[in-house]
Order: sequence, then structure tokens, then C-alpha cells
Amino acid sequence: KKIFAFSIRKDEEPYVKEWAESHPDVEVEYTSELLTPATAKKAKGADGVVVYQQLDYTADTLQALADEGITKMSLRNVGVDNIDMAKAKELGFEITNVPVYSPNAIAEHAAIQTARILRQTKVLDEKIANGDLRWAPTIGREVRDQTVGVIGTGHIGRVYMQIMEGFGAKVIAYDPFENPELKKQGYYVDSLDDLYAQADVISLHVPATKENFHMINRDSIAKMKDNVVIVNCSRGALVDTDAVIAGLDSGKIFGFVMDTYEDEVGIFNEDWRGKEFPDKRLKDLIDRSNVLVTPHTAFYTTHAVRNMVIKAFDNNCKLINGKEADTPVKVG
Ligand code: NAD
Ligand code: COI
Repeated sequence: KKIFAFSIRKDEEPYVKEWAESHPDVEVEYTSELLTPATAKKAKGADGVVVYQQLDYTADTLQALADEGITKMSLRNVGVDNIDMAKAKELGFEITNVPVYSPNAIAEHAAIQTARILRQTKVLDEKIANGDLRWAPTIGREVRDQTVGVIGTGHIGRVYMQIMEGFGAKVIAYDPFENPELKKQGYYVDSLDDLYAQADVISLHVPATKENFHMINRDSIAKMKDNVVIVNCSRGALVDTDAVIAGLDSGKIFGFVMDTYEDEVGIFNEDWRGKEFPDKRLKDLIDRSNVLVTPHTAFYTTHAVRNMVIKAFDNNCKLINGKEADTPVKVG
């Protein structure tokens, strides 16, 4: 049996090799190239493919794989929104993803950035770099003095809650599907409006569904406390960026953490040095002292990347051997 993997980065290579060494019965080949209609033929002779990319898995791409007799595809990430599912169904594809590879990676990043905003570390770093070593006016807010409102208490939200509690914060949460254990412990407020009214820090840990599009907007921001901190390490589409900029300009929002941005595709994980930066609004946010931008790197840890690779290969190995995969995706 043979598995072919696309778009393997340098940091993933050791884990691909680790998996291949522990599965000598499976032939493993890979490329750094993305999966496209043109590159699909590189997988010729393979029984399945392991993939990750933000580029769409179009009907043409899926057809090109099927033309090579390959219909078993394992994603190394969570999101399946860039797959032409109708075509995948028509071609009889079996697909898997890795829904949980390290909630701690994302939760930890969100918590670190929350603490940095509260202690104004970016302002301090800029002052120090310019030779201004005075304390004032860069006075911090202690995490234990904050009420932290967590929207979405799934895998990542729950770890973020634990970390913030470790710092001593009062944690409240909202989720339409309440976790029984958290409910018993009294974390939930009745509505998003209640959370907006009480929270000093608001952190988003929900998926980008149609219903959640721009859930943080002018109206929701108006319901928040003055000097609120907003943290988005989930999906760019959850936040109306212009509304946040207005909140930052008026002083309503104390600080904004953004690991995801609604127009990030084609901009994040690219090298813009020596080139014209393609998005004025994003540049404006990057330049602000009370905005922490990271290019969708919350997930990017050795622990997470290893799990993404190993779990995707495990899934694909099961598929190509006619076994039930650990985390199959509904096709269609
Ligand atoms: P999960 O499915 O375990 O939990 C999501 C929770 O959100 C669920 O409990 C759901 O009921 C709740 N929810 C949905 N809509 C809601 C709403 N309107 N209000 C309140 N709660 C709502 O997901 P997860 O693994 O914890 O992931 C959370 C988010 O993190 C997702 O958007 C995911 O795409 C994102 N993510 C980001 C990175 C990164 O690198 N920045 C990496 C992985 C995942
Ligand atoms: C996800 O797994 O959904 C992420 O957001 C991380 C991805 C960029 C690899």
C-alpha cells in the first residue's frame, strides 16, 4: 500500500518520516507542492493522499485524483469548508480530518496574548526600543481583576478558561450547547448580551458558521463594557473588522488580539518583505500599539503539527486498508 502527501512543509517532514518508519509496510512519498489538477498526477500509484491547504479542493482537483484511482483523502487540519463536497460525493470520496490536534496550542496562544494586551507589553517594547525606560504611563491590568467572558466552550474554549482561571480571573461563558460539567460549576450566563455586559475580556472560540458571521459588530460592541479586550483566535469571519477599528478609535476597546483576519487568505503565511503590503486595513491594525496581530499561528506548535501529521496518516492508513477511520468527515 502507498500513501502520497501534498504540501509537506519542512517542519512537518520529521513527523512524516517518523510515521513512515513506524509503518514499514506502507510506502510513503511526499511533495511540498499543493494539490491541484496539475499536481494530482504526482500521486499516481498511491492508494490514498494526505493533504492540507487553504486552496480549494475543486471539482477538477478531485476529478484529477479520481482519474488516478485515488478517492481516499485525509486532511491534516480541522476545516473541510474548502472541499467541493458535491463532487466528492459523486466520485465516492472517503475523507477524514483531524478535529482535535492540540486545543492547548490555540488556548495557550490566546491566553498569552490576552495577558500581553492587559500588561501593554507591545507599548513597553516599543518604548524600550526607543530608549524610553520610564514606567508611566504603561501601567498594567492584572488578570485576576478581570471578568473573562468565553464565547464557545468546546475543546479550545475550555482550555482557555482553565488557563485564565489559573491567572485568577473570574471566568464566565456562553454556549448554546452547554457542557454539563461547566454548567454544574456555574460558569454559564444566559445570553451573549449578559456576557457582553459583564466581561472585561471577551475571547471567541466558536466556528465560523453562517449564523456566527460578524457576531462581533457595531451593535455587540456597543453592549460591551468600556475598555473591553477582544480576542479572536478562531476565525476572521466572526469579527466585523471595521467595527473593531471604530471601537479602537473611540477608545471603547482597550485592545484587540487577532490571530485570524477575515481577508487573511493569500496574505498570512507569505513573506511581504521588500514588497508592497497588500492590505491597508491590516497594516493599520499591525501598526497599532494596542493590537496584537499574529498570522494564524495559534495552532503552530511542535505538539500540534506532530499530531496533525501522525493522525492524518493514521486515518489514511485505515481508509486504504478498508477499516473505519478515527475521524471520518461526512461527505456530501
Ligand atoms: P469545538 O467544536 O470543540 O467548539 C466550538 C463550540 O462553539 C461548541 O461548543 C459550539 O456549541 C459553540 N458555539 C457555536 N456557535 C456559538 C455561538 N454563537 N455562541 C457561543 N458558542 C457557540 O471547536 P474548537 O476545536 O474549540 O475550535 C474553536 C475555534 O477555533 C474554531 O473556529 C476553529 O476553527 C478555531 N481554530 C483556530 C485555530 C488557530 O490556529 N487560530 C486552530 C484550530 C481551530
Ligand atoms: C484549523 O485547524 O482549523 C486551523 O485554524 C489551523 C490551520 C491554519 C492549520
